[in-house]
Amino acid sequence: MTEKPNIMRIAVCSAVGGVGRTTITANLAAILAKEHVKVTVIDADLQFGDIALAFDLHPTRTIKDAAERKDKDNIHFYVMNHESGVNVLPAPDRPEYAELIIPDFLNSIIDTLNDNAEVLLIETQAGLNDLNIQVMEKADLILVVGTPRMAVLKNTKLLIETLSMLGLKDKARLVLNKATSNTVIKSKDMAELTNMEQAFFLPFVDKHIDHSLDMGLPIVSSHPKLTFSKEMEKLAESLNLYDSNTKGNSGIFSKFTNKGHRSRGIKNEFISADPIQES
Ligand SMILES: Nc1ncnc2c1ncn2[C@@H]1O[C@H](COP(=O)(O)OP(=O)(O)OP(=O)(O)O)[C@@H](O)[C@H]1O
Ligand SMILES: [Mg+2]
Repeated sequence: MTEKPNIMRIAVCSAVGGVGRTTITANLAAILAKEHVKVTVIDADLQFGDIALAFDLHPTRTIKDAAERKDKDNIHFYVMNHESGVNVLPAPDRPEYAELIIPDFLNSIIDTLNDNAEVLLIETQAGLNDLNIQVMEKADLILVVGTPRMAVLKNTKLLIETLSMLGLKDKARLVLNKATSNTVIKSKDMAELTNMEQAFFLPFVDKHIDHSLDMGLPIVSSHPKLTFSKEMEKLAESLNLYDSNTKGNSGIFSKFTNKGHRSRGIKNEFISADPIQES
């Protein structure tokens, strides 16, 4: 059955850095492009964004050039087209240029790029600031990325509490990346630990993933059979952004539970320490 995509703008956020925002954004974009969805990624991690790197793109123009020229009407000129079909508006090439991108400008280019894309993925900087909050307000969906580590969960919970205070929590979905099978945290503690009832888990990958960033090829493209790649596809399917009639899509976020790990015999629990073995 064909279902019309109903989520257009997805903000990929996190409380702390290094949890996998870029990995998830790039792989989600690659999956969407493979499914013939018109997808554009805005790298709004304005100081140290590396989405272009994740696709082995070498930008000659970035969002900074557009901001300097206040050129929102020609924003497509600054967008790079990857051979996979993914379009990327790269972050500035130096951190000091980040402040040139004021919230109003970002706001207007989100609107302009939204016209030509079926899905707009916006990776933000880690943490909360005016610009990130504005992106989250504008998004139809906020993917909050964390890892199942206590320090990360503590700060992720604070971020989700802030979203709640801002009235944005309803559109937030929690993705816990780098999940492993050793240290166990009961799912009944999930709400207390994260302020969310459910999370989508992505497994820790002990090799290939750094290499995929180095090579500029998303792992779902280079290693589609890895558990990580398959779970990424399930995540994409659960967002209901494309037709997945052969895969039994049952609606938005139906897979946002910890049941991904039940197939590995870990019921109602989640995780850390040793990597889940990849096939
Ligand atoms: N599921 C995973 N298993 C193992 N390593 C991972 C996984 N996801 C991401 N990584 C690695 O963790 C590091 C951080 O990932 P990534 O750059 O995607 O995170 P980020 O949140 O965008 O970080 P930053 O805050 O620095 O922008 C990278 O070295 C990446 O290869
Ligand atoms: Mg990143």
